[in-house]
Amino acid sequence: MQLTENSVGRKLLMAVTGALLLGFVIVHLLGNSSVFLGPDGINSYAENLHNLGPIVWVFRLVMLGLIVVHIWFGVSLTLENSAATPIGYASQEYRRATFSSRTMIYTGLALLAFIIYHLLHFTVQITDVEFAARQNMDAINRPDVFGMVVNGFKQTFTTVLYVVAMIVLFLHLSHGVQSILQTVGLSNDKSLPVVTLAGKGLAFVLLLGYISIPILIIAGIVKI
Ligand code: HEM
Repeated sequence: MQLTENSVGRKLLMAVTGALLLGFVIVHLLGNSSVFLGPDGINSYAENLHNLGPIVWVFRLVMLGLIVVHIWFGVSLTLENSAATPIGYASQEYRRATFSSRTMIYTGLALLAFIIYHLLHFTVQITDVEFAARQNMDAINRPDVFGMVVNGFKQTFTTVLYVVAMIVLFLHLSHGVQSILQTVGLSNDKSLPVVTLAGKGLAFVLLLGYISIPILIIAGIVKI
């Protein structure tokens, strides 16, 4: 398909919003890893974040904007590509594409569903009726994020759901990272194999980091 100026602009916006969302995913994992330091680690980390007051809301609005723009252009470019690709060409392209590049739209939409569930789980806290009904403050009156996370991942269903969601995130980033670098011109034919490998490597490290939290909790290694 011939790229129009308009689709180049949209691809660039997808790359920029994707890079910023990737930045969030890296920082969020580093913050969440404070769960391994025990209640004091993650509860003081969360308290410091909440104490930022209005900045938290500005950050949330920016995140929402990034997600909306990324999904909007992702869906519109996918629809346009499939409408404009001739059948013979499509089968040649299909052979060259990897599983993660062909499924970007599905893994992206599955991540949206995960984020909605995740916000209801840990931010709004309405999926765990028992936790919501209890006094959810720690010994020194900070929100007990450690108790919430550990109790959440003691349940097999929740742990399996998060592990599956992190595998979906891995698939999305496996193609996404190298796609960002290609769109912004930081990769060429020669460097593509290295860039692809580095993208998959980063996605794999994030997968291991994220799934280690629910797995170490359900295995009883991180406990209250
Ligand atoms: C094992 C995996 C994860 C754990 C344990 C985890 C943990 C948490 C916790 C505890 C909070 C609430 C923080 C607070 O209000 O104090 C939170 C919020 C959030 N998480 Fe995660 N998270 C995980 C994976 C992810 C992933 C993969 C994404 C994105 C793709 C994500 C996106 C968010 C967002 C957008 C928020 C809301 C931030 C806000 O309230 O401003 N999380 N997460």
